[in-house]
Amino acid sequence: MTHPRNLAIGMFDSGVGGLTVLHQLAKRLPNEKIIYFGDTARVPYGDKSSQEILRYSIDNANYLMSKHKIKVLVNACNTSAAYSKLQLRQLCPMPVVDVIEAGVKSIVKTTKSQRIAVLGTRATIRSGVYENEILKLLPQATVISIACPLFVLLVEEQFIGHKATKLIVEEYLAPLKKQNIDALLLGCTHYPLLRGIIQEELGNGVAIVDSSSSCAEMVADLLSSKDLEAPLSSLPVKHQFFVSDNPERFAVTARNFLDTQTEVHVQIKSPD
Ligand code: DGL
Repeated sequence: MTHPRNLAIGMFDSGVGGLTVLHQLAKRLPNEKIIYFGDTARVPYGDKSSQEILRYSIDNANYLMSKHKIKVLVNACNTSAAYSKLQLRQLCPMPVVDVIEAGVKSIVKTTKSQRIAVLGTRATIRSGVYENEILKLLPQATVISIACPLFVLLVEEQFIGHKATKLIVEEYLAPLKKQNIDALLLGCTHYPLLRGIIQEELGNGVAIVDSSSSCAEMVADLLSSKDLEAPLSSLPVKHQFFVSDNPERFAVTARNFLDTQTEVHVQIKSPD
């Protein structure tokens, strides 16, 4: 029987955005093979109801567990994690890590003034999950949460350097101007690509925390504590990419999220 340490890490997101997490994870753990699933047929999750987001999240976890052999499940989608954390932990026999717990862990370590901002999709902000989890650890903190639904589109349309993006960033972040925050959490897969422009808008006095790198750290700690680290590999590891629709578009957009060495051969997921 294969030892679990030789199995892959399963990761899912609503679409292509979770590749920010894959990118960090692959950099941090170069021996680990990742099987990534992007639910491109149903993206975006950020505008859906909580019931639909939960249903999609359970489908995604079931797909990765039933069709692939995985040792850990990483939920790279903030919106999904906001509505499915407990259910996925009950459903999955393997450890589950998600970007929300990773981001919260990191932002509470970063802030000194305990005045924090969180950016996310409409559904993530509506859930209040970031605020609740931060307040559990820092009950005196002030958390200002802002939904930034246009950011996902701007990133996917490759508008990162565009003047329209600058205006939209200014508009969304305007409520933070007089709030004296010292830390801001990027609570959505796509937002790390806008980090530079967000930092410019807020100035260097605000530390930006990106949950994709915190998530990679958490997975690394988990694998080492459970003796699940993959053996050293002399050849570059080939990750596998599956989607529920339009593999061609995923492959094109993926190039903005990954380094040039990562091979992206995208397959459509097999039927249930
Ligand atoms: N992956 C989603 C998240 O991190 C953003 C895209 C979507 O709305 O599905 O919240």
